[in-house]
Amino acid sequence: MKNTLKDSHNRRINYLRLSVTDRCNLRCTYCMPAEGLPIFNRDDLLTRQEIMTIAHAAVRMGIRKIRVTGGEPLVRPDIVELLSELGSLPELERLVLTTNGLRLGTMASDLRQAGVSGANISIDSLNPERYREITRGGDLNRCLQGIDAAIEAGLRTKINIVVMAGVNDDEAPAFVEFARTRPVAVRFIEYMPTRGRSKGPSLTLPTVELLDRLSKLVSLEPLQRPGGLTMAGPARNFQVPGALGTVGVISPVTCDFCDDCNRIRITSTGLARGCLFHETGLDLKPWLRTGDEKGLAEALARVVADKPEGHELDSGEGPDEIPMSRLGG
Ligand code: 5AD
Ligand code: SF4
Repeated sequence: MKNTLKDSHNRRINYLRLSVTDRCNLRCTYCMPAEGLPIFNRDDLLTRQEIMTIAHAAVRMGIRKIRVTGGEPLVRPDIVELLSELGSLPELERLVLTTNGLRLGTMASDLRQAGVSGANISIDSLNPERYREITRGGDLNRCLQGIDAAIEAGLRTKINIVVMAGVNDDEAPAFVEFARTRPVAVRFIEYMPTRGRSKGPSLTLPTVELLDRLSKLVSLEPLQRPGGLTMAGPARNFQVPGALGTVGVISPVTCDFCDDCNRIRITSTGLARGCLFHETGLDLKPWLRTGDEKGLAEALARVVADKPEGHELDSGEGPDEIPMSRLGG
């Protein structure tokens, strides 16, 4: 089939995660050290034009879904223009965004207008104090207003909760309740030990345990994963009787998350990576800055070809610190 991109493990690659900035208006504990990370030089960040060059090359190769991430993508000054340009790529079937939601209150309808069809919004607590602690200063109300604005604007809205044992795992039932009253897909994500794996007790609560606890409180009916062309993410979703929304789990640590991985990533400075947990990335800048489109396409093809089969988070192997705000989650 034309325009079908496969990696060496026969996985179809049709999904690009594009980090457009490493800057963020929050400092979530699982993502950054308290003092934040040194930010990249503005000159090192990809320009809008460079991002579009990559996006064109990617859709030409078979990418059909782009998720724009950060840092916090909505703090990038030209984000609406960038999304409009991405939104007008004819071959692209889905343009979505991962955000902390703080700016959605004012931006949601502009994003919808630009061609964004969905937003994944991170919210790790429904308790204002705890939300402030986890995000190191965030205002829960603003995030909730952002969620409402996203729904209002007609964005397909997903809610991401990074579940951390002893930190916010007691709020799982409250998040199920959240899905009962709103048309959102609530997704519990296993905490990945991306920061200082060696220190302290494990914060990862295995999905089986979470589901075991929840199923004592509510009935969770498994939803069929969409068949055919899978552009779906790795979530397993459930219906809760009478609920407007759904509940799902994402198990990057304990489950076979990698088996149907369909994505590659590009960082805000133009490093292309086949996997979050391997290799430092292939720098696309040399091809971008010389306008070598053929070289760029070959570089992207190489990243796909070199995609590893899986990660070893479970085994304690792999890097000790992974700066998520730089990689885009
Ligand atoms: N574990 C799990 N998910 C993470 N994310 C960032 N860091 C982690 C981590 N350590 C994901 C979450 C968050 C998004 C920005 O990135 O889904 O909502
Ligand atoms: Fe910002 Fe997202 Fe990292 Fe939180 S998890 S600090 S919102 S990039």
